[in-house]
Amino acid sequence: MAGLSSVLKFGFLVCLILVSPWSVCASIVHRKFTIGTQNVTKVCSTQMVVTVNGRLPGPTITVHEGDNLVIEVENNAPYNVTLHWHGVRQLKSCWADGPAYVTQCPITPGNKFTYNFSVTGQEGTLWWHAHITYLRATVHGALIILPRPGKTYPFPKPDAEIPIILGEWWNANVEDVIAEAVRTGGVPNDSDAYTINGQPGDFFPCSANETTRILVERGKTYLLRIVNCAMLHSYFFKIANHLMTVVAVDAEYTKPYKTDVLLTNPGNTMDVLITAGQQSGLFYIATRVYNSLPLGTDFLNTTTTAILQYKECSNTSVPVLPILPAFNDTATATKFSSNLRSLNPSVPNTVDVEMLITEGLALVSCPNNSCAGINGDRAVGAFNNISYVQPNISILEAYYFGIDGVYTTDFPDNPPTVYNYTATVPLSLWEPELGVKVKVLKFNSVVQIVFQNTGIITIQNHPIHLHGHNFYVLGQGFGNYNGKTDPAKLNLVDPPFVNTRGVPAGGWAVIRFTADNPGAWLMHCHFESHSELGLDMVFVTKDGPRNSDKLPAPPFDLPKC
Ligand SMILES: *[C@@H]1O[C@H](CO)[C@@H](O)[C@H](O)[C@H]1NC(C)=O
Ligand SMILES: *[C@@H]1O[C@H](CO)[C@@H](O)[C@H](O)[C@H]1NC(C)=O
Ligand SMILES: *[C@@H]1O[C@H](CO)[C@@H](O)[C@H](O)[C@H]1NC(C)=O
Ligand SMILES: *[C@@H]1O[C@H](CO)[C@@H](O)[C@H](O)[C@H]1NC(C)=O
Ligand SMILES: *[C@@H]1O[C@H](CO)[C@@H](O)[C@H](O)[C@H]1NC(C)=O
Ligand SMILES: *[C@@H]1O[C@H](CO)[C@@H](O)[C@H](O)[C@H]1NC(C)=O
Ligand SMILES: *[C@@H]1O[C@H](CO)[C@@H](O)[C@H](O)[C@H]1NC(C)=O
Ligand SMILES: *[C@@H]1O[C@H](CO)[C@@H](O)[C@H](O)[C@H]1NC(C)=O
Ligand SMILES: *[C@@H]1O[C@H](CO)[C@@H](O)[C@H](O)[C@H]1NC(C)=O
Ligand SMILES: *[C@@H]1O[C@H](CO)[C@@H](O)[C@H](O)[C@H]1NC(C)=O
Ligand SMILES: *[C@@H]1O[C@H](CO)[C@@H](O)[C@H](O)[C@H]1NC(C)=O
Ligand SMILES: *[C@@H]1O[C@H](CO)[C@@H](O)[C@H](O)[C@H]1NC(C)=O
Repeated sequence: MAGLSSVLKFGFLVCLILVSPWSVCASIVHRKFTIGTQNVTKVCSTQMVVTVNGRLPGPTITVHEGDNLVIEVENNAPYNVTLHWHGVRQLKSCWADGPAYVTQCPITPGNKFTYNFSVTGQEGTLWWHAHITYLRATVHGALIILPRPGKTYPFPKPDAEIPIILGEWWNANVEDVIAEAVRTGGVPNDSDAYTINGQPGDFFPCSANETTRILVERGKTYLLRIVNCAMLHSYFFKIANHLMTVVAVDAEYTKPYKTDVLLTNPGNTMDVLITAGQQSGLFYIATRVYNSLPLGTDFLNTTTTAILQYKECSNTSVPVLPILPAFNDTATATKFSSNLRSLNPSVPNTVDVEMLITEGLALVSCPNNSCAGINGDRAVGAFNNISYVQPNISILEAYYFGIDGVYTTDFPDNPPTVYNYTATVPLSLWEPELGVKVKVLKFNSVVQIVFQNTGIITIQNHPIHLHGHNFYVLGQGFGNYNGKTDPAKLNLVDPPFVNTRGVPAGGWAVIRFTADNPGAWLMHCHFESHSELGLDMVFVTKDGPRNSDKLPAPPFDLPKC
């Protein structure tokens, strides 16, 4: 196994006292990430992109549960950079979480920072990505967490494992794309291609000769580790003539779920078993956008492909193309999300903090209607009518060192105005307040949030990501959440335990998590443009009573602003 040998090559073993028969050695996994720029050509367009160690997608990191990761990052690119370890619990290591101006100031050009954290109690696939401006478009890669040596998967061991990285490509410098949106007040330009393991596939211009090919042998079983690194798109995912069994989502095992189609949101990871059960042949692995926006909204609707190729088959045969759901097939999207079930659930059965949080886009007026958003206004995003503004130093430092004036603690538990959220919303309600408002949580409090999508500007499915925690998704529905009748429909038995969840367009979703991890935790829409527009908020979880429940001091090399 390549993953294991690289762990052994780069790490050295630290043996712990054996307390249980299967607990063995945890390793320190050292990696050096050099951030730089290079010219890359896709869909007939050459662009300067920011990469890690010269690779796009970036390097896969493979570790075992319990390992300590020490990632030395050197920034040789001309941009500020931070890295986020998406989905990692970061127990007592919030300083390593990475979102810019939330847990750290950026690593400025020419400088270094070492991320130091352990991966505890999670198995499956996660990922890492830049967490500043638009750099995650090219600065991303998979983080694979194997069971500890001697432990096994809760499913038959596959013959091989294959990372599948879904991405997007712009025929432009992505930093120019986001800078233009910030300057004009419009939304950033959409991408020009979608990719599978870096390649757009046969249906995009100048791409067919480089389509990703995955070789399989008849009768063998493969674990696909699918990471949706896209910036703005949820995808339907199919493999012609092959059923898939979902066994984990966001590094949490699920009850095996057999399906011919997946729905994956930006930020989600999914472990899926397939058996090469055909005689022979070539089969497209294909994705297409799930677009929850109203009909007539423009988007790139080309099918993205890779090829699943049986080993003895000639490269020149024509692959079989699966029939993908229509771009607006919300029924299929809903069915998939609703069928995921946690394998080892442990749902907290009491709630300490209840919140109802509206989410969606909004508009801020500009002088003389001079902005590029609708009506000459500036496009923004808002939770509970608060559009997040990036502070000038990190919220975690402000909290830890008691620096005043960086944020306020009045993020509302409920929408400040009660209205018919998913109906046509009067224009007078479209302009939010701007601010850096956090919600402070007591250590170990159980938080339940109803996310309520709004009709301000448009209804849309927003994938909400919470840093540093997985959360149970107790239920979802369309229209306005009904606090009288909907609670009875929630699944408190075996709901999925994820770090990112799409909230239905014109609907709601209920999540529950335990704030058992001191620090500052960003929660945001994982459509990167929406996050850049202010669809973000921060939870500050205070220290617990025991020394082991307190956030340690920051690392000595934490970048300064
Ligand atoms: C990329 O291409 C440009 C224009 O051809 C060139 O000036 C630049 O040096 C190249 N950059 C890299 C990192 O190769
Ligand atoms: C990583 O952090 C741990 C404490 O959590 C510390 O013991 C260790 O020395 C650190 N490693 C490095 C390389 O800084
Ligand atoms: C965004 O798209 C517009 C319209 O196609 C184009 O004129 C502009 O140059 C694009 N901006 C960037 C940064 O590529
Ligand atoms: C594929 O074709 C493009 C031009 O269409 C070319 O630039 C590229 O080098 C080719 N790649 C390979 C691997 O042949
Ligand atoms: C066929 O595709 C496989 C997988 O990409 C590659 O290793 C092999 O070299 C290709 N063979 C030919 C003849 O192009
Ligand atoms: C998708 O693209 C095709 C052309 O490639 C076009 O005919 C079709 O109308 C598009 N569909 C949507 C929903 O945009
Ligand atoms: C999906 O889009 C098609 C047009 O491409 C339209 O005819 C159909 O009514 C839409 N379905 C839903 C459920 O909105
Ligand atoms: C708005 O437009 C008026 C009339 O054209 C002009 O006098 C004023 O300077 C403009 N204000 C701004 C902030 O651009
Ligand atoms: C950050 O600093 C700039 C310049 O001093 C100031 O204009 C801005 O309001 C500050 N932002 C916040 C959120 O405090
Ligand atoms: C909210 O709006 C929807 C759609 O317009 C409507 O069906 C529903 O009756 C409204 N609910 C209330 C409580 O007014
Ligand atoms: C949001 O806050 C602004 C400013 O306080 C107010 O004008 C607007 O009506 C509020 N909108 C909603 C949806 O609460
Ligand atoms: C990069 O980060 C430093 C430190 O926070 C900040 O002073 C500088 O303005 C940032 N540069 C850009 C281009 O945002």
